[in-house]
Amino acid sequence: MRIDAISIFPDYFAALDLSLLGKARDKGLIQFAAHNLRDWTTDKHHTVDDTPYGGGAGMLMKPEPWGLALDSVLGIDPDSTDVAEATVIFTSPAGEVFNQELAYELAKEERIVFACGRYEGIDQRVVDYASSRAKVRLISIGDYVLNGGEVAAIAMTEAIVRLIPGVIGNAESLAEESHSGEGLLEYPSYTKPASWRGLDVPEVLLSGNHAAIESWRYQQQLERTRRVRPDLLPPDTEI
Ligand code: 6GU
Repeated sequence: MRIDAISIFPDYFAALDLSLLGKARDKGLIQFAAHNLRDWTTDKHHTVDDTPYGGGAGMLMKPEPWGLALDSVLGIDPDSTDVAEATVIFTSPAGEVFNQELAYELAKEERIVFACGRYEGIDQRVVDYASSRAKVRLISIGDYVLNGGEVAAIAMTEAIVRLIPGVIGNAESLAEESHSGEGLLEYPSYTKPASWRGLDVPEVLLSGNHAAIESWRYQQQLERTRRVRPDLLPPDTEI
């Protein structure tokens, strides 16, 4: 998979050189590049924003640099009818909400381009233009507001890349984690020592009784999910 990000703060994406993502890159499983939107401005001040037509608070991102950036990163001649084999993701608190299912869906893509907005957003025509040249999605990472889409793009990249076969050594750990499979939260886990600061590991986990352990863990998943995220429970779950 190839992932590009277009942003006025490309340095944010240095975080992706670390750990898992860095290794996936070294193994050749993903390619990643961050681009500076200001490289596609044509004025002395490298202007990327302007006031909104119709009035209102804040500044909007201008269409021209975005058009040039998208053409360049997607490899499109704007005077042709070129269509790119890529999914362009506009980060936006007004988008569909990212979740594990969407991460699995996006992990199948060959090319993803994150268009990271700042200020109050991007001129709508950029989204409309991109939609005529590639698959486009507006995606939010939750119901709160960030100053820009960079952190959201990094979060999505991490969630997507770790699902690409070969990136995570132990594929079983993917199936067992929260938000996978049955959609329940993960059970609590313990490692050595068996007693620490007066706190003991639950007896059943030391019993060697695998059926009992499995049933205890499932019960813990149900109870935790009911307590913290009742919205995730299937309607007629018995606890
Ligand atoms: Cl994708 N962008 C911004 N600016 N804020 C957000 C978001 C995205 N997702 C949640 N809040």
